[in-house]
Parts: sequence; C-alpha cells; structure tokens
Amino acid sequence: MGIPVLGSGRQAAEIVQRFRKKNTQIDEIVIAMPSVTGRKLNEAIAHCRATGVPCKTVPSVATLLTGQVLVSQIRDISTNELLGRKPVRLDEEVIRGSIEGRSVMVTGGGGSIGSELCKQVASFRPEKLIIFERAESDLFRIHNDLVQRFPHVEIIPLIGDIQQYSNVEQAVQNHSVNSIFHAAAYKHVPMMERHLVEAVKNNVLGTRNVVNAAAYNGVDNFLMISSDKAVNPTNVMGLTKRVAEEIASAMPSSEESSQTKFVSVRFGNVLGSNGSVVPLFREQIAKGGPVTVTHPDMKRYFMTIAEAVQLVLQASTMGKGSEVFVLDMGEPVPIVNLAREMIRLSGFEPDVDIEICFTGTRPGEKLFEELVLEGEQIVPTYHEKIKIFRGARMSRPEIDQWLKELQSLVSRENELSIMQHLRSLVPEYQPDGRWRAMLQPQRVRGAVVS
Ligand SMILES: NC(=O)c1ccc[n+]([C@@H]2O[C@H](COP(=O)([O-])OP(=O)(O)OC[C@H]3O[C@@H](n4cnc5c(N)ncnc54)[C@H](O)[C@@H]3O)[C@@H](O)[C@H]2O)c1
Repeated sequence: MGIPVLGSGRQAAEIVQRFRKKNTQIDEIVIAMPSVTGRKLNEAIAHCRATGVPCKTVPSVATLLTGQVLVSQIRDISTNELLGRKPVRLDEEVIRGSIEGRSVMVTGGGGSIGSELCKQVASFRPEKLIIFERAESDLFRIHNDLVQRFPHVEIIPLIGDIQQYSNVEQAVQNHSVNSIFHAAAYKHVPMMERHLVEAVKNNVLGTRNVVNAAAYNGVDNFLMISSDKAVNPTNVMGLTKRVAEEIASAMPSSEESSQTKFVSVRFGNVLGSNGSVVPLFREQIAKGGPVTVTHPDMKRYFMTIAEAVQLVLQASTMGKGSEVFVLDMGEPVPIVNLAREMIRLSGFEPDVDIEICFTGTRPGEKLFEELVLEGEQIVPTYHEKIKIFRGARMSRPEIDQWLKELQSLVSRENELSIMQHLRSLVPEYQPDGRWRAMLQPQRVRGAVVS
C-alpha cells in the first residue's frame, strides 16, 4: 500500500527516537498481532511501551472469533469500553439552558468526578467556571487542560478548602456564583475507617459550609455528588455521605428566604477514577501480575465517568429542591470478570499468563453495594436512568442544631461520642471492623451499657 516498513517491533524505541530527531512525533503505536498471546505479545508490548508512546492492541483472535468485538475496534490498553453500553440519552438543550452564560463553581474540581464535571460544564459555555480545589497540582493540571480546550470560557482556578467557610464564601461572592456542583470529599473506604474525625470535618462539616455559603449568598442551584455507599452504610465514608445528603436535603423553614434548590445525586463506582480498581489492575497487569481481587463474589456497579457526569447534569435540571436522585447503573459487574476482561484486553490469558489472587474483604467493605431503585421510596422521572429517593427529611433548624452539637464534639476529638452522634441521625448504619467492636454493647456486672 505504499507505506514504508521501518523495522521490527524490537526496534520500536530506536525508530521512535529516529523520528524524534527529525522533529516528528509518534503519537501512538498499534500492536496489530491478534494471533499472538502470552510471552510473545508480552515482549511486543514491553518493546513498544519502552518508547514512552501510548500503545493500543487489537483484540486476540479468540475474542474476535466470539464475535464480541469488531476488527475495526482497536482497543486502548487503558480499556474504557469495558462496559459495552449504549450512549446515555440526554436532553442537551435543557442542560445548556441551565449553564450557558452563568457562573458555575465545581468544588473538588481537580478530582476524578470534579474534573469531568468541569469539562462537561465548560462545553456548555458558562460565563465563568470556577474550579475550587485544595490540591494545587491537580488544580494546575485541570486548569491547563481546560484553558486549551475552551478558550472562550473564563476559567478561574481557586485554591481553597471547603473546611474553611470563608474560603467558600469568598469564592461564591467574588464570582457571583449561580450554580455549585459539590464534588470535594474524602472517598477511600479503608482510609476513612481509621480517620473518623477527618472524614466528618471534610464530608460533613465541609458540606455544611458549602450548603450555607450557597443559601446565604443567593446561589440558585446546589448539587452534591453522593455515593451508593451512603445507602444503609457499613463504613465511615458512606455514613458521612449519608449525613451530607441529609444536610443538602433538609427542608427550609417557612420564614427562610433562601432561593437555593439543593439536591444530591447518588451513584456507584465509575471506571478509571483515582484509586479505583481499573488503574490498579492496569498497573498490576503491566507488572506481569498477580491481579488482586478481594473476593470471588465481589460485585460493583460501574459506569464510565463521562456517563455518570452526563446524568448528573441532566438530574441538575430536574431538581425542585431537597431531592436525592439515584442513577440507574445497569447490572452490577463481578469484579473478577472485570479483572479477566482487562487481562484479555491487554493481550494476556487470565490464570495462564497473569494470575488472579483473592485477598479477602476489608473492614467496611460490602460484597455488593445496594442502589435501591425500586420500592415505595423510589419515584421515577422522565429519564429512564434517573430516579428520586424520597426518604424522611429533617427541617433546616433541626439539622442546624444537630450540626452545632457535632461541631462541638469534633473540637474535642472524642471519636466515640462523634460516632454516637452520627448514628443518632443514621440509625441504619451497620458498623464493621474496629467500629463494630467499639460500638458493641458491653456487659458489665449484668448490666448492658451501650
Ligand atoms: N469515583 C467514584 O467511583 C465515585 C462514584 C460515586 C460517587 N463518588 C463520589 O464523588 C465524590 C468525589 O469522588 P472522586 O472519585 O472524584 O474523588 P477524588 O479524590 O478523585 O476527588 C476529590 C477531590 O476533592 C478535593 N478535595 C477534598 N477535600 C477537599 C477540601 N476540603 N477542599 C477542597 N477540595 C477538596 C481533592 O483534592 C480531590 O481533588 C466523593 O464524594 C465520592 O464518594 C465517586
């Protein structure tokens, strides 16, 4: 076809270097060896990876023969299509109407969910996009990316901490913010099991600060990103997110003049977010294994980040105030199948080339996360993938009093009394691991002391 053959795979690094010297950048290497598996493919990938250029493989012949993929679908080793779902149906005009020409702030804008929110919000041409983030390098990265992609949008990077009320209030006032997407949070389950006070300061009191800044400064819309782990929580992370939902959905008292519509959106894991299984498995596969899965029966809901954020934006246009929206994540995926699929997509045979080993569940981890999508408390919306959870709601004065007491317990850093106070708001919390041991009723001389 007139395309020059430059050499063999072993020479990949040398060839890339040769082109670099001529000021020609190689953007991508496609490893088109579908009949090769195991050691040979491993070698080919290693040679190509050594160049530092992104690599893609075509699926193995076995996968092609099962008809699961088309030959034309060259797969990224970064596997973004693991779920094979249809694109989400969106009412873009309604979303545009809620963002175009307005001042929008995203907290935690440097994180996995926050940065995707920033990208999608920017694509609807807000007047201003304020990225509120505590981690300087993540803020720097997302800001750089966005100014290049969206030169017509004013993008303002703000280093700030939601734990400091004045930081949030200044951001809202200085930029006359109309809408807030609140994605700043701590999210790692095992980490939060050990850091109750920090989890409460960030996820609960931090959320209170953002909610109050929105209410006192005439913000029109506030949306908090929640998690399936807030449903009947078994860990500190989920517990704090459930409390944060309660704060956001508290009913304003009749004399309050706040015009803000507060909503939360719950969903399960997204593919490829910071610290999630996909980057972990990718790293383990690149090292030649083993790939670690906690339990053979462990299942999780998965969506791509883009899919989840599209639905979040759609839900943001539906809120009348105080709702908790729940996204339908499709069927839960056994984690071990995800591991196998990723190993195959990287050109290896699971359990032959790369071993899968089971490490056991960690405290607070459920085998299966619930996302209640049916029952009396669930109300459908006009979008088939978005439902509303109608739980009992507290009034704003009630939650404010509860928060005042929490704040004073946090200042004394007494973990047990903080936990008891949290449980008074979320009685369905089922502690696990060290928290179960700490909260178990103790028998003392025949009396039960809780
Ligand atoms: N990743 C998922 O699979 C997933 C799924 C459902 C819900 N969620 C929820 O979305 C939220 C964000 O998750 P993520 O995956 O984007 O996490 P992430 O760690 O990638 O992002 C969180 C961001 O918030 C910032 N942040 C944290 N505390 C802050 C503070 N006090 N002030 C300012 N910025 C702060 C962090 O620096 C980070 O950039 C969490 O509440 C999580 O439970 C995540």
